[in-house]
Amino acid sequence: MTAAPIEAGTVYLVGAGPGDPELLTLRAARLLGAAELVVHDALVSPEILDMAHADAELVDVGKRHGGRHTCQDRINRMLADAASEGRVVVRLKGGDPLVFGRGGEEALFLRARGVRFELVPGITTALGVSAYAGMPLTHRGLSSCVTLVTGHEFPDGGSAVDWEALARTGGTLVVYMAMGRLAKIAERLIRAGRAPGTPAAVVESATRHEQRVKCGTLATVGVEARGSSAPGVLLVGEVARLRDELAWFEGGRREAWERGSGPGQFADATG
Ligand SMILES: C[S@@+](CC[C@H](N)C(=O)[O-])C[C@H]1O[C@@H](n2cnc3c(N)ncnc32)[C@H](O)[C@@H]1O
Repeated sequence: MTAAPIEAGTVYLVGAGPGDPELLTLRAARLLGAAELVVHDALVSPEILDMAHADAELVDVGKRHGGRHTCQDRINRMLADAASEGRVVVRLKGGDPLVFGRGGEEALFLRARGVRFELVPGITTALGVSAYAGMPLTHRGLSSCVTLVTGHEFPDGGSAVDWEALARTGGTLVVYMAMGRLAKIAERLIRAGRAPGTPAAVVESATRHEQRVKCGTLATVGVEARGSSAPGVLLVGEVARLRDELAWFEGGRREAWERGSGPGQFADATG
């Protein structure tokens, strides 16, 4: 297979996946090795940034724990200006650039200015969580649909999400940007009609060595993950029950299964 070309004067909007560097696509890895400028978010793993060319300029425009971040307009202009100077630019984002990643906004800005761009998908958090925490997003007899939703709220406390409709839809729900609002989100879903006993899990730092999974029900999950500052999602749905048998990546190690204890060993696992 001939690899696609990497062109000067182009912005590559690239998904870095949820953390484990092995989950990077081949295209992303090649682009990182070729980029002259890498503009990245805070959640991109250091091991992935290490894959950038030694001469590349790395700019962190992310924000964590209330720290300073670069405003979206400034990022847009930085990308467009660098490409207009003829540089190979990689805009590297956690997960997938088009899932709660503003990749669409940045691409629209570039298009309006006549700057060439390419969108390179990454593994979004929900997929990483599903595989590395052992909870299929869909499973025959348990869930036939999956919804990815933001737990982010507006400053006035309102939300763009119709929680009543989500509760009615059922299936598996993965709530991004939910940490710090877990109890409120769970309560909203219960009020909207989702059973309090519905299995639920909070997965933090998914696919990374420090991955943590806390299981419970919709009624208890808000309490279980209180006080955490790691990036995390809330997964709600019957599929969370399968974790007891499907968890294979525990404590950041892949060898749990090889050590021979087999399915069911994680029935009481929290970490
Ligand atoms: C701005 S969104 C970006 C989502 C990203 N574009 C994606 O596709 O996964 C950031 C949120 O993604 C989730 N997230 C990102 N990386 C994560 C990880 N390794 N484990 C758990 N949640 C993660 C958290 O909910 C975090 O607040």
